[in-house]
Amino acid sequence: MRNVLILVAVVAVLLGYQLYTHKSEVSERALQPKNEQIVSQGQALYMAHCASCHGDNLEGQENWRQRLASGRLPAPPHDETGHTWHHDDEALFNVTKYGPQYVAGADYQSDMPSFEGVISDAEIVAVLSFIKSTWPAKAQATHDEINRRSEITRQEQN
Ligand code: HEC
Repeated sequence: MRNVLILVAVVAVLLGYQLYTHKSEVSERALQPKNEQIVSQGQALYMAHCASCHGDNLEGQENWRQRLASGRLPAPPHDETGHTWHHDDEALFNVTKYGPQYVAGADYQSDMPSFEGVISDAEIVAVLSFIKSTWPAKAQATHDEINRRSEITRQEQN
C-alpha cells in the first residue's frame, strides 16, 4: 500500500511538472504588442528579415491570392487585410520558426523560409509582436480572443 501511495505521488509530481513546463513554453511565445522595447526590436528584425517579401508596410506582394508561375503563393500582407491575425500566437510562431510545412506538411512547396537557427525564439516573438502592434485595436482584440480560445482548448486536451 505504501509503495502504491509513493507511486501515485511521483506520478502526480511528474504530471504537474509537465503541465507547468508546457504552460511556460506557451506563455513565452505570447506576443507582446504593448511592450515598446520588444516592439521596436521586432520592427528592426522585420525590416531585416521579412520586409523584402511581406513589404515595408506589411502590405504583402501584389495579387497575393493568385499563385505565381512557379505554382507557389506570393507573400501575404501582415496588416489587417491579410489573415495573419486569424491565427493564434502558437501558429504564427510555428510557421515563422519551422516554415508553412509545419502546418501544410513536409512536401508543401513555399517561398516562406524557416527561421530556425536564423533568429532566436525571443526574436521571433519580437517580430510577431511588432506585426501585431500595427493592427487596429479591433483586430488586436479579436486576436486576443482567438488566443484565449486556443488556450482553453489546450487546457481541455491536457
Ligand atoms: C522570401 C520571402 C519571404 C520572407 C523573407 C518571409 N516570408 Fe513569410 N511568407 C512568405 C510566403 C510566400 C508566404 C505564404 C506561404 C504559403 O502559404 O505558401 C508567407 C507566409 C507567412 C506567414 C503565414 C501567414 C498567414 O496568414 O498564414 C507568416 C506568419 C509569415 N510568413 C511570417 C514571416 C515573418 C515573421 C518573416 C520574417 C521573420 C517572414 N515571414 C519572411 C514569404 C516570405
